[in-house]
Amino acid sequence: TAPTNAATKRVLLASPRGYCAGVDRAVLAVEKALEVHGAPVYVRKEIVHNRHVVSSLQDKGAVFVDETDAVPEGAIVVFSAHGVSPAVRDAADRRQLKTIDATCPLVTKVHKEAVRFANGDYDILLIGHTGHEEVEGTAGEAPEHIQIVNSPDDVEGIEVRDPDKVVWLSQTTLSVDETMETVRRLKEKFPNLQNPPSDDICYATQNRQVAVKKIAPEADLVIVVGSQNSSNSVRLVEVALEYGAQASYRVDFAAEIDEAWLEGVTTVGVTSGASVPEILVQDVLTWLAERGFGKTEEVVTAQEDLLFSLPREIRRDMKAKA
Ligand code: F3S
Repeated sequence: TAPTNAATKRVLLASPRGYCAGVDRAVLAVEKALEVHGAPVYVRKEIVHNRHVVSSLQDKGAVFVDETDAVPEGAIVVFSAHGVSPAVRDAADRRQLKTIDATCPLVTKVHKEAVRFANGDYDILLIGHTGHEEVEGTAGEAPEHIQIVNSPDDVEGIEVRDPDKVVWLSQTTLSVDETMETVRRLKEKFPNLQNPPSDDICYATQNRQVAVKKIAPEADLVIVVGSQNSSNSVRLVEVALEYGAQASYRVDFAAEIDEAWLEGVTTVGVTSGASVPEILVQDVLTWLAERGFGKTEEVVTAQEDLLFSLPREIRRDMKAKA
């Protein structure tokens, strides 16, 4: 007998997905700061771009501010995983804030590259999204040397002082394919364009894209769990569509899934951005199981075991308290 529709319905669950080492460290840094110092602990910008994480930390006593001038003098402020420019550090110092720097070490690496090439008087083409906090932080390291390249279409309008002294760097959470297209066009224009010393798009971004590429061709629908301002989550939707998913949507929570998306669907792909706690993915799997998609296959394309130690300020404070 032909299998019933219910029997063929399945979920392909991408792995790796969810938390990266930088997010894990940043969230833990705020939690430890709250434990050691008590509430309130101020956090400049969203510690990571996830609504659930931000509201959970608010419940525990974190206060999110847009700029350090909203933090009372002498109070504690945590810098988010996306990093800050030197101007933000200076502003915090002027207010004598006690800072805890939760910038992801892989973002710090890009800052250091920017400083090094600026010191060498290079023109730096920073591929990334204007207005994204990470790009503001990195560009702020050497504003007079850095131009932001948003997309391949931006390339035409780029001018540099010396085409033999140009390097490209990038935001850590971009689409690998689109970035390579931007670089290809930049190299057409500036054949002596230098590559970054190592990949700026981080391991977590790359791994999540590889995993979604694997499930997308088989999926009628790919659900990406992640917030709207999460660059790497939004990229996962784009990559899923490029690699053959019939449809792909991003949701913050299972409750945002529209039942209509499941019409005529037999295979649902599920993944999540690097700032997304696994509990939100499990909620989506439960929601799907309740609608006949109880069979889940995990599709594993890489193993991740990277862990970053906590920011040193918080390690010091924890030690002092112990
Ligand atoms: Fe860092 Fe990449 Fe995560 S830059 S915060 S490891 S997405």
